[in-house]
Amino acid sequence: MTATPAKQNGLEHEQVLRLDDPASGLRGFLAIHSTALGPALGGIRLSRYATEADALADALKLSRAMTYKTALAELPAGGGKTVIIEHKAMQRSTVFEALGDVIEGLAGKYFAGPDVGVTTADLAAVRGTTRYVADETSTELGNIAEHTAIGVWHGMRACLDFAGLRRETRKAIRVAVQGVGGVGKCLAAILKREGLELMIADVDSVRAELVGREYGARVVSPDEILVSDCDVLAPCALGGAINRERIPTLQARIVCGSANNTVESIEAADALHRRGILYAPDYLVNAGGVIRGADFYLRGCRDSHASLARIYDRTKHILELARERDCSPARVADEIAEGRWRGASRVPA
Ligand code: NAI
Repeated sequence: MTATPAKQNGLEHEQVLRLDDPASGLRGFLAIHSTALGPALGGIRLSRYATEADALADALKLSRAMTYKTALAELPAGGGKTVIIEHKAMQRSTVFEALGDVIEGLAGKYFAGPDVGVTTADLAAVRGTTRYVADETSTELGNIAEHTAIGVWHGMRACLDFAGLRRETRKAIRVAVQGVGGVGKCLAAILKREGLELMIADVDSVRAELVGREYGARVVSPDEILVSDCDVLAPCALGGAINRERIPTLQARIVCGSANNTVESIEAADALHRRGILYAPDYLVNAGGVIRGADFYLRGCRDSHASLARIYDRTKHILELARERDCSPARVADEIAEGRWRGASRVPA
């Protein structure tokens, strides 16, 4: 197994390993952004990357975002991420066992969980060779995607209240969910239970139809969902859905979803603000899963519902500060998170 320090492109990461193990077929990067506040928490992503540079860029960006997420959620943890490059010849169990060896070698500095493309069986293979990985089969831990969806709902409630879309009128509130995988489907279940009007889309049309039937949602095409006539747009697929070209075409009043890096850049978040669209920063509202993981593994909590509900207060607080300063909530969230993990908060939280 070769796990060697990788070039870091000038970002402030503590450690970046290039994973290249011809014997197992493991290829990718493990990035530890910060352990200033505690062990680096972060999922394992499996994806087809066009180049190694793309995979490294993803690992660096996602691990950094995890530091901001854990800091903003006031967890005793930092941020990391593993990115595995998917390729035809790979034997999944062998690859994930080899990754477990690398994680074990870090002796608790990095604690892994699930991310896009990784199954419960894959995580079980990682667990075969390391202690430092979430056990999704544990009934005590519970379903991580569901915890994430609950957190997104708390953030969305805060946005609805802030925008004056009052609880008693919520029946008429229309939410468009892009991507009904692990998180999006759980979010659809919550929104149906809360009586909101639901529209969904997924590139997997069979999945979209099934979820649509189950939750009485109108199914639209993946092209339509982002520009649909709705009150809230909830991107729950891959990152980058909201970019500067798309912003002028949006009809939603609120953007609040689980997708990591929903908004392509901080400048795109500024453009949303200028258009009067309320944006709940992704890493603020999608922290439910990592909050559950940290509560369970680092704090030994049996239940995290009270911790998840604090996402409502944090979101409200950040939206209010952003209104006072007439800036994007993304700027305020970044500043608070940065202040925390760098150990010198400049903005009272
Ligand atoms: P998933 O892979 O289970 O679901 C994603 C769904 O989006 C799939 O059904 C896929 O077919 C669909 N999709 C992909 N591209 C699409 C497009 N262009 N239009 C419509 N649908 C599309 O992933 P999961 O776990 O639900 O995560 C969703 C997002 O939330 C990801 O960005 C992930 O990084 C983020 N996230 C997930 C957390 C979790 O607990 N699973 C925690 C925090 C963030």
